[in-house]
Amino acid sequence: TEKARLYSGMQPSADSLQIGNYIGALMQWRDLQDSYDAFFSVVDLHAITVAQDPKILAEKTRRTAAQYIAAGIKPAKSTLYVQSHVSAHAELAWILSTITGFGEAGRMTQFKDKSQRYGADSTSVGLFTYPVLMAADILLYQANVVPVGDDQKQHVELTRDLAERFNSRFGEAFTVPNAMIQQDTARIYDLQNPTSKMSKSAETDAGVLWLLDEPSKTAKKIMRAVTDNDGVVKYDREEKPGVSNLMVIYAAMTGRQIPAIEDEFAGRGYGDFKKAVAEAVVNEFGPVRENVLELLDDPAELDRVLARNADKAEEVATKTLTDVYDKVGL
Ligand code: ADP
Ligand code: NA
Repeated sequence: TEKARLYSGMQPSADSLQIGNYIGALMQWRDLQDSYDAFFSVVDLHAITVAQDPKILAEKTRRTAAQYIAAGIKPAKSTLYVQSHVSAHAELAWILSTITGFGEAGRMTQFKDKSQRYGADSTSVGLFTYPVLMAADILLYQANVVPVGDDQKQHVELTRDLAERFNSRFGEAFTVPNAMIQQDTARIYDLQNPTSKMSKSAETDAGVLWLLDEPSKTAKKIMRAVTDNDGVVKYDREEKPGVSNLMVIYAAMTGRQIPAIEDEFAGRGYGDFKKAVAEAVVNEFGPVRENVLELLDDPAELDRVLARNADKAEEVATKTLTDVYDKVGL
């Protein structure tokens, strides 16, 4: 029997991914790639919807791809490619934009948040139509499932609506995808501000754990993480967000359950606990970081891998796009 299709991606918006991307996306992708026919994209067309430096974008794209591979995404098994290498993304986005309501697009809460953050003068039409491009990403590959964080749920809903609308207006061209929402427990918060999501596009990075940071820097950031004054290692997102966040990180790094971690540190202070968390993160990140540096040492080989995968992606994407053009009368 054929495996179901899976599609996901991340923006190359920083030199390094952060631990939230690693736990919330990469670790899951790595596990899912065996049971699905998976497509993992570095979505560089999305990254240019906000101000960016063209001199370093290609390098960030390559670094992001290297981090996918180093974290265990296998480019010989999954299709790991760069979005802009497959021109069908931009072409299908145009077609889909013609069946997207202006008001419908205007209801996307991520756009509202981002445009408020950047201000009207720095908000592009591309940022506004970003969810339509994301719909094209998913629909081109006839994806059945799309692993995303809950902040992207609304975009997958829009994708479903557009697929159904196109299919009923022009004839069946698209599989209607389902969001696969990561569990709330996989959500990682900023170490200095443990009620706000850790993000690679945060304004300050004192509370961000970068996958490619020096191990000593990572350990220092964990030792300095904001906690509370009661000194008990106990999971309580409301009352003890800092400690709970470190527990979630520790659980993900060691494969241990939260109650077992509470037992392990019963009667011990935060110093001991933080040291254990730091050690676990450094142990996990160390080999990944080494692997990334090795991959980046041979950019020509990395580019060949990405080109091969783009060919694979293009084959599938072109089939969908040709059918769509035909159905629309182009
Ligand atoms: P960022 O905010 O770091 O730029 P993105 O919005 O590009 O991250 O998300 C890329 C992927 O990483 C998504 O699958 C998202 O759900 C996951 N992710 C991002 N930040 C976190 C986090 N703090 N905790 C868990 N998962 C996260
Ligand atoms: Na994503």
